[in-house]
Amino acid sequence: MKTIAVVSPVGGAGRTTLTVALAGLLMARKHAALAVECDPRNVFTFYCGLRTPARRGLVSHVVSPTDDWSDAALETDDGVLWLPWGGARGDGRGPDAETAAAIAAVLHEQPTWLRDLLARIDLPGHGVALVDTPAWPSVHASQAIAAADLVLVVLPPQPLACATLPRLRSELKALGKETVYVANAASPASQLHTDILTLLRDALGAELSVYRVHADTGIPEALARNENFVQAAPHSQAAHDLQGLASWLSNWIHAAHQPAAGAKA
Ligand SMILES: Nc1ncnc2c1ncn2[C@@H]1O[C@H](COP(=O)(O)OP(=O)(O)OP(=O)(O)O)[C@@H](O)[C@H]1O
Ligand SMILES: [Mg+2]
Repeated sequence: MKTIAVVSPVGGAGRTTLTVALAGLLMARKHAALAVECDPRNVFTFYCGLRTPARRGLVSHVVSPTDDWSDAALETDDGVLWLPWGGARGDGRGPDAETAAAIAAVLHEQPTWLRDLLARIDLPGHGVALVDTPAWPSVHASQAIAAADLVLVVLPPQPLACATLPRLRSELKALGKETVYVANAASPASQLHTDILTLLRDALGAELSVYRVHADTGIPEALARNENFVQAAPHSQAAHDLQGLASWLSNWIHAAHQPAAGAKA
């Protein structure tokens, strides 16, 4: 199984949207797919059609040591497994202060906590875990990066994304992480977006994916209607972009499983 961390240096970049869409599209390309929410806002269930926050999930065993996170995943119609953050109480509120402190301590004291958990998940060889995160820097994003075989950085064409990108990029380089940068919600009609994409291309070169995802008002509308955007608007430019990105990732997963030339199988 390969792990892909979906991160950005700004909020609202489209990480959760891309995590969810790509998990479904990779499943359609015969990769067993697990979407993991490493985000304490615990909103994943809303993206898979449920209207209450998850009680069980990634942090289940921290909340209650007898609880097992491994069967807390939900399976969607397209066969994708979703592992929410979890921890909601019966009244929908988040964990109490003591539990929240215990979770924070685990994340800070065990930098490979997520990596160790994912290592125990048995997906077939070409399976993939896509890990959604809050904006970087955060201990949650760092956990996902530490677990990742590939980091997918989602960049909205906004000035703040350009301003914060160098710090994230140098951090990823220092960690030696393979990284691909993807522009999301770009509108060709916007001169600002066009200029920022030119800047990003100059700065990132081949690390900037050719599969930018265009802005499409159908994406938030599909979320509001509890629909799968790619299925609802398969001929839209944004769906086409997501298909291209999924194919690129599928090829990356296959290549990552190939033994290096000259190495013993
Ligand atoms: N390509 C796009 N075109 C139009 N709207 C988009 C696009 N991608 C995402 N959105 C919308 O932008 C909003 C933010 O997306 P999303 O929640 O995926 O971002 P995020 O990076 O996960 O944000 P957060 O920091 O809140 O976790 C959502 O309403 C989503 O529907
Ligand atoms: Mg999100």
